[in-house]
Amino acid sequence: MKGGGVSASACLPERTESASACLPERTESASACLQELRENPSACLRAQESIASACRRVLLTADPREKLMVARQITRGWRLGRYEHCFDVAMPDQPAWPDRPELLPPSQMPRRGKGGSDRSRITILHALAHIEFIAIDLAFDMVGRFGAGMPRDFVDDWLSVGADEAMHFALLDRRLAQLGSHYGALPAHGGLWQSADETAHDVLARLAIVPMVLEARALDITPVTIEKFTQAGDAISAKMLGRIVRDEIRHVHFGTKWFEYGTKSRGFVPAEHYQALVNRHFRGRLKPPFNDSARHEAGLTRDYYMPLAY
Ligand SMILES: [Fe+2]
Ligand SMILES: [Fe+2]
Repeated sequence: MKGGGVSASACLPERTESASACLPERTESASACLQELRENPSACLRAQESIASACRRVLLTADPREKLMVARQITRGWRLGRYEHCFDVAMPDQPAWPDRPELLPPSQMPRRGKGGSDRSRITILHALAHIEFIAIDLAFDMVGRFGAGMPRDFVDDWLSVGADEAMHFALLDRRLAQLGSHYGALPAHGGLWQSADETAHDVLARLAIVPMVLEARALDITPVTIEKFTQAGDAISAKMLGRIVRDEIRHVHFGTKWFEYGTKSRGFVPAEHYQALVNRHFRGRLKPPFNDSARHEAGLTRDYYMPLAY
């Protein structure tokens, strides 16, 4: 399976000069600590938990409510300086998930219908809740797997995405409860982690496929879903989806921002490299109609995706 990008090289250099950051159980004395630092100046000191280890905890938490609680705690803790900017553990190849929902191939999924009946709306909301649940893992995997090779702001951005996804999941789960259902009551799409697996080796491939193809696709589709819910008189769900889509524009923006940073720093032309990566790693097709204005607001301009549309 693909590796998890373990690197201690992102540890802050200034920390490695201070023996006070060493934990007593790790080193018996300050001089032993300084000796260790001299031998391996880029080591993670573990004065605090590393951000990679914290992300790994999110990925390895199966229970949905617990996963979202851990996700929120870690994002808040990061803002408060409670984690070391350090990448000392690998991300799991596959996150932990609950026994329910049952995961099925897309061809065996229940038909969603057009949103006219309660049953159809529950099926749509359940499918969206599952997408948001997997999106929590995708955001924390982005940080833990690829953070070492990127600037510190990369961690800030993708942890904030992780907190958004946790909130989106919570909103949808609550709405399902109001409609007499819950997450896990129906089967869910079993292939959503495939693109993470396919792009586990390359941050640019991950950014191209996850935020810049899949989340961008949500920008195209969600307004249509909002319209269906509005037509069916479900203004509460429609309003909630409107709020979610605003956040998703920001997620696509982060995808494009870091893709451009990564491609330019490696001497690639961003749009051309995007097209090469999508051709290599994305099996579906980019289907019009596109929500050009939302995509444009996210920095994902037509020169990226139009050459791939058919
Ligand atoms: Fe989301
Ligand atoms: Fe998102």
